[in-house]
Amino acid sequence: MSEKVFIFDTTLRDGEQSPGASMNIHEKFRLAQQLTKLNVDVIEAGFPAASGGDFESVKNIADNIQGPQIAALARCNVKDIDTAWTALKNGKNPRIHVFLATSDIHLRHKLRMSREQVLELAVASVRHAANYTGNVEFSAEDASRSDLAFVCRVFAAVIAAGATTLNFPDTTGYALPDEFGAKIRYLMENVTNIDQAVLSVHCHNDLGLAVANSLAAINNGARQVECTVNGLGERAGNTAMEEVVMILRTRPEQAGLHTDIISEYIYPTSRLVSSITGMTVQPNKAIVGANAFLHESGIHQDGVLKERSTYEIINPHDVGISTDNIVLGKHSGRHAIRDKVKDLGYGELAKEELNRVFSRFKAMADIKKEMFPEDLEAIIMDEVLRVPDSFKLLHLSAMSGSLSLPTAAVRLLVHGEEKEAAALGIGPIDAAFRAIAQLTKTSSKLLYFSVSSITGGTDAQGEVMVRIEDKGKTVVGQGTDPDIVTAAAKAYLTGLNRLEYLKKGSHSTK
Ligand code: KIV
Ligand code: ZN
Repeated sequence: MSEKVFIFDTTLRDGEQSPGASMNIHEKFRLAQQLTKLNVDVIEAGFPAASGGDFESVKNIADNIQGPQIAALARCNVKDIDTAWTALKNGKNPRIHVFLATSDIHLRHKLRMSREQVLELAVASVRHAANYTGNVEFSAEDASRSDLAFVCRVFAAVIAAGATTLNFPDTTGYALPDEFGAKIRYLMENVTNIDQAVLSVHCHNDLGLAVANSLAAINNGARQVECTVNGLGERAGNTAMEEVVMILRTRPEQAGLHTDIISEYIYPTSRLVSSITGMTVQPNKAIVGANAFLHESGIHQDGVLKERSTYEIINPHDVGISTDNIVLGKHSGRHAIRDKVKDLGYGELAKEELNRVFSRFKAMADIKKEMFPEDLEAIIMDEVLRVPDSFKLLHLSAMSGSLSLPTAAVRLLVHGEEKEAAALGIGPIDAAFRAIAQLTKTSSKLLYFSVSSITGGTDAQGEVMVRIEDKGKTVVGQGTDPDIVTAAAKAYLTGLNRLEYLKKGSHSTK
């Protein structure tokens, strides 16, 4: 049996640091459930000392998710470590993850500390965390730009103080694969007690090398990769989990290593993350992009039809991409829908969730000729993952055309009360947004708007993504509907509901 590489998923922590990609406590919990199905080894659930919202969310995940280890991030100070532990302590398998920079650039300009002070603080902090749990990770922030001999000293000292995982981050995404691999080998050979810990890497993608650097690291002895779904994360993002997993799976003869990820859940997890965060996946993204398994050239199509392996190195089914065409129709019953939801990787829905999904499905199947897996997924996203609504769309009608004045009439539930308004606009979407702003008494600024179709055909559902901002808080909203004005209104309302949720204060503001 090949050796295992541990998958440490930080979508909920570093991934959430993507600009605009904030998630609420319900969405984070849903994602943690999905990561559990995916069988990641560690879920980094958040940074409890960063805000009350983060604390609650980490606690909720630690208390209720079973299977993976649940990690919480903490700076090297007693308050952060105590807060992380308070959030984690009722969980079955908690990990405290403390970090401190080791590069001279950070020591001089950010920490204003000497190397000896950093060494001392790292040891004291790990020792403090180890009083709570035997599962302590230490990260040397900006390790790839640090003096390697110093990192070796710090690593040896924190292992002696109780750290069981040592993380070597390429915080700024500066490293190159050969050089990064050589550094990992150096650590393996020069940290005297490294056999008592797991060496981990955490790469950022500023030069587009996060996956390549992670691969170089595991080829040289690292056995934990920190990564995110879709490569989400601070700035250009982190190592894309799906890429590392599928590289090891597709080329086992090269690395001789494996992960325990259940790859069939990769695609549903990717869709879930992009719907929740509003960060769409570029179509040509490896493994999970919309074009990753499409063959445009006639020669390629002909080859794949004769024998898939001519142009496909991964079977799309292995990553959970359904190649069925039409899934179900208007005559499909509740059981068929329930089974298809499971097939698509979303697991067993609660009874009333299934009821909502089923009735939306039936209504849509009545007007749409063909129902694709993506249609069902869009309904699941809408019905199951929605933020508890302050504002809910009841009805919308819009009028536009080359000669008429664009108008929209909107009926909403606003905090449980039915309200109706009409407005004019530059176009029907503008008119609908104006009516919604009037009814919700909100004045957010629209920063970004995009519309795409989630399947082919003129009866396809439109998917709208918006990013809106109000009083310094930025959120995304996503909405789907065969009518794009309605999809846009839903996206806008999802965003406004998120802003309302933030206003109530139960969310992180890192
Ligand atoms: O990029 C980084 O260095 C981090 C650490 C906190 C692990 O995110
Ligand atoms: Zn990071």
